[in-house]
Amino acid sequence: MWSPESYLTALRFAAERHAGQTVPGTELPYLVHVTSVAAEVMRGLALEPMAAPDLAVTCALLHDVVEDTATELAEVAAGFGDPVARGVAALSKDARLAKDEQLDDSLRRIRDCPREVWAVKLADRITNLQPPPIRWTADKRRRYQAEARRIHAALAGGHAALGERLAEMIERYTAYLEPA
Ligand code: NI
Repeated sequence: MWSPESYLTALRFAAERHAGQTVPGTELPYLVHVTSVAAEVMRGLALEPMAAPDLAVTCALLHDVVEDTATELAEVAAGFGDPVARGVAALSKDARLAKDEQLDDSLRRIRDCPREVWAVKLADRITNLQPPPIRWTADKRRRYQAEARRIHAALAGGHAALGERLAEMIERYTAYLEPA
């Protein structure tokens, strides 16, 4: 079972670091995204326990602090330990690479991490397969669904329940492929 104390420590850190940011296309605080990813991870853990639940939940809450804020990996390591920092590093795209290489590179690095980190990436994309912003073109929506299929192909073996849920969300997303 994950620990509520670890959850709160990571949540506070994420809340400070993402302060002022919103979920793209909405006015919701960015924390809504990271707590939704954590909720998906916790549902997954309830259905199918993993060896290190706190690693999964903490990485879920912190998965975007390096990619989307000025936070350094060293701060994550100092506050939450090396396994969490390694997970957050793998979950962060490498902005030095060409955009179309970033996802596959991240997926390769995630696959070198414990399965708990795979679970976070599955949960992240499950969460992101909400109805897309109106301004997204049909082409962008199709590419987003195709990317989700790549994530599923690479990582569904890491957690069957989250893999199944991602597959369901990918199918459901087909309804949004034509812009309104
Ligand atoms: Ni995310």
